[in-house]
Amino acid sequence: MRSLLVGFTLIVMAITAPMMAAQKVELSIDASKTGAKIDRNIFGQFAEHLGHGVYEGIWVGPDSKIPNTHGIRNDVVGALKAIKVPNVRWPGGCFADEYHWRKSIGPQRSVTLNPNWGGVTEANTFGTHEFMDFLDQIGADAYVSVNVGSGTPQEAAEWLEYMTTDQLTALAKERAANGHPAPYKVALLGIGNESWDCGGNMSPDYYVSQMKIYSRFVRNFNPAQQYKQLMLKIAVGPGGDGPRWTDWTETVMKAYQQHTWSWDINGLSMHNYTVGHWPPSYTSVGFGETEYSQILKFTLEMDGLISKHSAIMDKYDPDKKVALFVDEWGAWYAPLSGSNPGFLVQQNSLRDAILASLNLNIFARHADRVRGANIAQMINVLQAMIITDKEKMVLTPTYYVFKMYVPFQDATFVPVTLDAGWYTHGDVALPRVDAIAAKDANGKLWLEITNLDPNQPVEIEASLGGGITAKSAAGETLTAPTVDSVNPFDAPNTVVPKAVSAKVQGGKLALKLEPKSVTVVAVEQ
Ligand code: AHR
Repeated sequence: MRSLLVGFTLIVMAITAPMMAAQKVELSIDASKTGAKIDRNIFGQFAEHLGHGVYEGIWVGPDSKIPNTHGIRNDVVGALKAIKVPNVRWPGGCFADEYHWRKSIGPQRSVTLNPNWGGVTEANTFGTHEFMDFLDQIGADAYVSVNVGSGTPQEAAEWLEYMTTDQLTALAKERAANGHPAPYKVALLGIGNESWDCGGNMSPDYYVSQMKIYSRFVRNFNPAQQYKQLMLKIAVGPGGDGPRWTDWTETVMKAYQQHTWSWDINGLSMHNYTVGHWPPSYTSVGFGETEYSQILKFTLEMDGLISKHSAIMDKYDPDKKVALFVDEWGAWYAPLSGSNPGFLVQQNSLRDAILASLNLNIFARHADRVRGANIAQMINVLQAMIITDKEKMVLTPTYYVFKMYVPFQDATFVPVTLDAGWYTHGDVALPRVDAIAAKDANGKLWLEITNLDPNQPVEIEASLGGGITAKSAAGETLTAPTVDSVNPFDAPNTVVPKAVSAKVQGGKLALKLEPKSVTVVAVEQ
């Protein structure tokens, strides 16, 4: 019996051994050929009044038993500080075009409705002051989307005056009476949201006429933002790649080319979710390699979409003054069973971590044009960083990718050349590995490599040139037992990064990547 077992084990090992044999991938980096700065704003977050994204995710109120500072939960703040969130887009989303800021300031808050998301009531207890306090606590900038769809230019202009003026106007006095005498900083202004759809079903021409009015009158008066740190105005841009979307980009950018002294835009938004097909039907848990490979194939379409709209922007703005802001991106799956479908609740798995790294790498490769991106959404909604359940909180696999990528914030892109080979499953063929490199402000070289293949490890041999002589490399790698591994409340450390290091062999950096993994290392010289 024993010898039978040994024989059987040997046969299994013989069959599986070739499957597990590491694939060799050669990669070269010339650190003298630097590219654009990877703007830290590509690591932006998005917090919409949707489901438990804001209420419970951020705001529990000062009387809550959940530890909080002025009503904002401390555990969430601590976690977000660690990923150095550059900016938070708020209050939507579709919600922004039905939001009236006056209802959520001062001692009396009116309860309103949230018809977009679950048809629930909106308590308005989290408004301008609470948002700004939250940003202060996590150390992020404000990206405020004003209501173009159902608001007026006057309402938006007054909101900005309320937030930013330091002169003793009636609105500034009201702000002081509500607890904040000093003006707030608003780094980014979204002129509407998806104005082609939930934001008002506008034609491109109609939107452009609105955009000019809002750009002209919705002013930032903060003295600190007049000459330096100017507020960037982001126009609504495309939501796909068909003629409807290319027409939209053409129309906005053509208007920009002809803009006069009296109005301007600094960015064009783009929304692109990894969904497969609408309505979302891929599940966020309990899937296998087929769904893993298909979703990654869909997500890589981000690159072509950016290239397409960048090419249109180049025609009207060859100097790339207008940034492309991918201010809604991420995986959008079927709602978790038992959840309110309007709350967009989904789990977050190792697949999402890999998806996040692939998208961040695409943004980095387009760093000359893509200077902002906001993953949807920060907490409890869609591809979240954090999931809460009352007093409990877990950090998702996507959170850890954002944490591992912190060194790439404002680092300088360094091109990587590699022959990635292919990972195939069924009729899906994907590059086996993806990689980016960048130099930080101290001249340190950072390397990110994603192994998409869920079955085979990869042996990287990296040749470094351009004045870099590597001694070793060390950092972190993120993987998990299966492609659908998640961090549930009762096992929150299922998908967490672990230490990894690389040696120099024959003048090359040798690094072994586990299957389905995201790895970031710093090169020691
Ligand atoms: O992120 C959820 C929704 O997706 C946003 O509110 C909207 O802008 C987009 O359609």
